[in-house]
Amino acid sequence: MTPPASSLRIGIAGLGTVGGGVVKLLAAQAALIAARAGQPIVVTAVSARDRTRDRGFSVEGLNWHDNPVALAADPNVDVVVELIGGADGPAKDLAEAAIAAGKSFVTGNKALLAMHGAALAIAAEKAGLVIAYEAAVAGGIPVIKVLREGLAANQISRVAGILNGTCNYILTTMREEGRDFADVLAAAQELGYAEKPDPGLDVDGIDAAHKLAILAGLAFGVKIDFADLHIEGIRRISDLDISFAQELGYRIKLLGIAERTGAGISLRVHPAMVPLSRPLASVDGVFNAVQLEGDFSGPVFLRGRGAGEGPTASAVVADLIDIARGIKIPVWGQAASTLAPAVLTPMAAHEGAYFIRLMVTDQPGVLADVTAILRDHGISLESMLQHGRKPGEAVPIVLVTHETSEAEVGAALLRIATLPSVLEAPALIRIEP
Ligand code: HSE
Repeated sequence: MTPPASSLRIGIAGLGTVGGGVVKLLAAQAALIAARAGQPIVVTAVSARDRTRDRGFSVEGLNWHDNPVALAADPNVDVVVELIGGADGPAKDLAEAAIAAGKSFVTGNKALLAMHGAALAIAAEKAGLVIAYEAAVAGGIPVIKVLREGLAANQISRVAGILNGTCNYILTTMREEGRDFADVLAAAQELGYAEKPDPGLDVDGIDAAHKLAILAGLAFGVKIDFADLHIEGIRRISDLDISFAQELGYRIKLLGIAERTGAGISLRVHPAMVPLSRPLASVDGVFNAVQLEGDFSGPVFLRGRGAGEGPTASAVVADLIDIARGIKIPVWGQAASTLAPAVLTPMAAHEGAYFIRLMVTDQPGVLADVTAILRDHGISLESMLQHGRKPGEAVPIVLVTHETSEAEVGAALLRIATLPSVLEAPALIRIEP
């Protein structure tokens, strides 16, 4: 197609929900975007798997490329937008080809950035190009802009977020409808919230960890080795844990947490008990939220839609508007060549309070055996719950500890699990202040 003189010409790889959303948003808001960007932003080329699919808009008149990497060499493309996904393969090839061709690169690909973001940034900055990725983390929430620009004067001490809408939807529905994980997961798959047949990227915490690695790299100015993150998903959360959480004044959320500790940076994704009084506790359903702590700004809380056509397209187009305006911000908020390797604190060094649930035989002396082991490991209890009485049968017991260390809790639970009266593996959920 022939765009108007002096416009920013875009090539989009991937015309799924997000790619299609970008095409539609650019058309629907063309005048507003041209006014704000200082020039029209026009799609001139696309690449997708199926040319004939009905996407609700026409690809007639656009340069069509079967191979996404060819977008980088298209002379009618100034900026390449990658919405294919995947840490390697065509997405990475396209990023490298775009930079080699002297074109800025916009992506929603968290896996690509979490795995290769530092190397790509070095190549882009050497060539004076932009890599922009607002859509990669928390969809419509402009958290990259907030960290990279709005809070640029702050030392960030902590980032904590609900970064995966699928997990938040599953946990919320389990609580509201009293259903178990497998049942709600199957329903989420039918609704298209969770992948079929393998929902692992979401429910095993990987997607949240990709986003956390990006936020931590930005917040702390470090290069992160993704393999070093501590990652747990939500498969083991039971409806029993959810109702005990409710009773004790908590909500169970899958959190991604990046925080400075005395010994380095703690980076972890795991289910957590969040006190009902905290803002993250009331973020339900498919919503995402991020809480940031800056030393001068104080706490900042952002909440919004973390996925979906409109919110994610909004983030992609905001990046395109910045590029059209000529704004160039270092990919990681500082020159990529100055990023130091992250020193991560091991999970065993984590300190905090813990929720422990045991299934035990209801008989005299069980609690005495359990608390003796906790005493041996210097673990003090804040509260204990048991409901009902079923002599000789299985009953749940919940223990809430005071602040202690992960290493001690882990060692104590290994011993507790071997008691004959303890009938299944203990459930352990960290309590986050
Ligand atoms: N699958 C993600 C979620 C959205 O459920 O939040 C894209 O990262």
